[in-house]
Amino acid sequence: MPVTTRIEEVRNEVTTLAQAAATAKELMQGVCTLLNERMLKYNWVGFYMLEPGAQPPMLVLEAFVGAMTPHTRIPLNQGICGAAASSGKTIVVDDVSKDPRYLACSLETKSEIVVPIFVMKQVAGELDIDSHFAAAFGAEDQKLVQYCAEVVGKRLEKSR
Ligand code: SME
Repeated sequence: MPVTTRIEEVRNEVTTLAQAAATAKELMQGVCTLLNERMLKYNWVGFYMLEPGAQPPMLVLEAFVGAMTPHTRIPLNQGICGAAASSGKTIVVDDVSKDPRYLACSLETKSEIVVPIFVMKQVAGELDIDSHFAAAFGAEDQKLVQYCAEVVGKRLEKSR
């Protein structure tokens, strides 16, 4: 199946999931499972959320699918995760071995994408995906992951 067709299908599945999920937590777990199962190069999929009221700000691992990571709490000045949350921008790293910010989760990881999640226009967390393949996240993947982050952000907004 061409990659773009699969991405379109998965996007529709995310929309359906968002309508069916009873809570934001259920939606986040569902997005992790769906992306990991349907997108074959998305080998670790997880949400890090900003801990409410934490000073200094801290990203805390919530829903995820994949091997357990040593990085369950990440300050904003560390890792690609910290960089994405503090800049509010999507970060794609085609070769993690060449990025000095990278915090290793698995020795198999070759590339990574981190997309911030906005609630009321403020960064509330992020969707982080690792791949065992170099340069796994092209322009269409970015759009799909950004869509997932947007859908979760909207759901969180409703529940606040
Ligand atoms: N690689 C991330 C850390 C999280 S693990 O990938 C799950 C980073 O550099 O921030």
